[in-house]
Order: sequence, then C-alpha cells, then structure tokens
Amino acid sequence: MKIIKEVEKILKNAGIEEYSLEAKLIVLELSGQSLEELYINNLAPKNIDKIFETAQKRADTKKPVQYLLNCAVFMNDKYYVDENVLIPRDETELLVRECFNLLKDKKDKIDVLDIGIGSGCISCALAKKLKDYELEILGVDINTQALRVALENINNLNLTRRVILRKSDIYSKIRDIEKFDLIVSNPPYIPIKQKEFLQKEVLFEPKSALFASDSEGIEFYEKIVKGAKKYLKPEGFIALELGINQAPLVQDLLKKDFKNIKITKDLSRIDRVISARLNT
Ligand SMILES: C[S@@+](CC[C@H](N)C(=O)[O-])C[C@H]1O[C@@H](n2cnc3c(N)ncnc32)[C@H](O)[C@@H]1O
Repeated sequence: MKIIKEVEKILKNAGIEEYSLEAKLIVLELSGQSLEELYINNLAPKNIDKIFETAQKRADTKKPVQYLLNCAVFMNDKYYVDENVLIPRDETELLVRECFNLLKDKKDKIDVLDIGIGSGCISCALAKKLKDYELEILGVDINTQALRVALENINNLNLTRRVILRKSDIYSKIRDIEKFDLIVSNPPYIPIKQKEFLQKEVLFEPKSALFASDSEGIEFYEKIVKGAKKYLKPEGFIALELGINQAPLVQDLLKKDFKNIKITKDLSRIDRVISARLNT
C-alpha cells in the first residue's frame, strides 16, 4: 500500500528502528481502516493529512508513537495512553502470565493488589485472564493523572466491577484489615544515574514511573517487600517485574519472609520476573 510505504520512508530516514511496524500503526489507527480494507478494496485511507503530520512529528520530535496516537496494544487489547503513564511493555506480559499461574488453582474469591497501576495494563490483562474467577483487583498509584488513565482503560474494557482504584503512596492508604492473595508490581526501577544513557524516546515517559533514587534501583522493591507480609493472606504471593541485574538483590530481600522464590527470564535471557510465596 503506497501510503504505508511513504510513511515508512519518513520514519526510516529519521532513524526510527521499528519504522515498518510504526508506519502500519499510524496508518491503521488514524485511518480507522484495517489492512484488508486498505489492500483489498484499494480504499484511499481517511485522514491522510493527519497521517503525514503524525509521521513527521514522530520523525522530528522522537516522541513515542503511542503517545502521538494515544494508544498502545498490550496482550491484544488497546489501551489509552498519554504522557502520564508508562507505555506498556511486551516484557510485562511475562509478569501477568506468572500472576495467572500463581492464582489459577484458587477456589475462593481472589484479592489482588497492583502497586503502581499506571495505565492499568497489568490489572486489566490479569482480570481478563481470570475472567471465570471471583476476583477483585485494587490498583494504587501515587499519580492522580495516571489513575485517570487507568480508569479510562478499566471502563473501556468493561472491568469496573473487577478492578478498583485508589490513590496511595505504596501501602499508605491500605487499611490494616485489607488482605491480598497476591501483591503485584512493576515499580520504577531505573537507577536515576542511568538517565543520561537512556534513549530519547524513554525520556518522554513520566519520571515517577521510571526512576528509583538509589544507585541500584531497588528502593521500591525494598518498600514493597517490607510491607508485603502485613497485607498478604497466609501463603499469599508476591510477583515483581525486574530491571537488569536486580534479580539477586531482590531475591535477597525476599529470603527472610518468603519461600518458593522463582525467577523467569524474558526473550533476551534477562531475569525479568521474580515471584515467591509468603512463609507461614
Ligand atoms: C514502571 S510504572 C508501571 C506502570 C504499569 N503498572 C505498567 O506495568 O505498565 C510504575 C508506576 O508506579 C507509580 N508510582 C511511583 N511511585 C509510586 C509510589 N510511591 N506509590 C505508588 N505508585 C507509585 C508510577 O506513577 C507509575 O505509574
């Protein structure tokens, strides 16, 4: 299709690595037409001006295409995203799958706490995977604007009865009587000192979603693990996404109160997810 090729050319000339994928995304999203419609019916795409304008903006500013389109795909669902939330990453799918595996044999109502819910991608995808279970996920975030985005996605995916939201600084607004079968989090984990080495695209994402203030990026893991014992049901689980080289450090944090520690690698062979069960 000519227009896709033309958009590809703009992006490729600007050094955008995934130019082919992004060109399709821009054309399909902004024309509102499917590839089949564009190819088979040989339709002229709608919104041509907007398509070129967006491609040019992507080329000139390097702002991630997901922010330009206000749309990201995670586990086959579309999510509204803007610069208040992290763009959902493919690796996070591993975390959702691990959560599902930990919970799939439960017979009673399942309670989950998602710390740092952001766009809502983990909670929504997990709620969809556990669609046949009685389930309530409480998603917390320190950022009110992120909670607005999560709410929009929860509404769009018809999950309002299963995913609820609260503003909280980690556990600050969790009541003592609230207990969970699983605490899940993909916390900010990039050591702030690495900021200067990041791709320009990443710096469009909210700093509060990316950075930890300590040199190893584990301040959030420390806080989350320390409080988990108080808020987990007996034999409850914890599941956390990890940054590069953080697995041994987080494993050490978990050793005191947790057993069955499991680490899962991503496709690049990086230790990406750690999970464990509370000692009783
Ligand atoms: C790495 S993002 C993860 C977002 C989403 N869960 C995902 O996986 O795409 C981390 C999230 O934690 C939130 N956050 C940062 N500090 C927090 C805190 N002290 N308490 C609660 N949430 C926090 C950020 O606002 C951000 O939405």
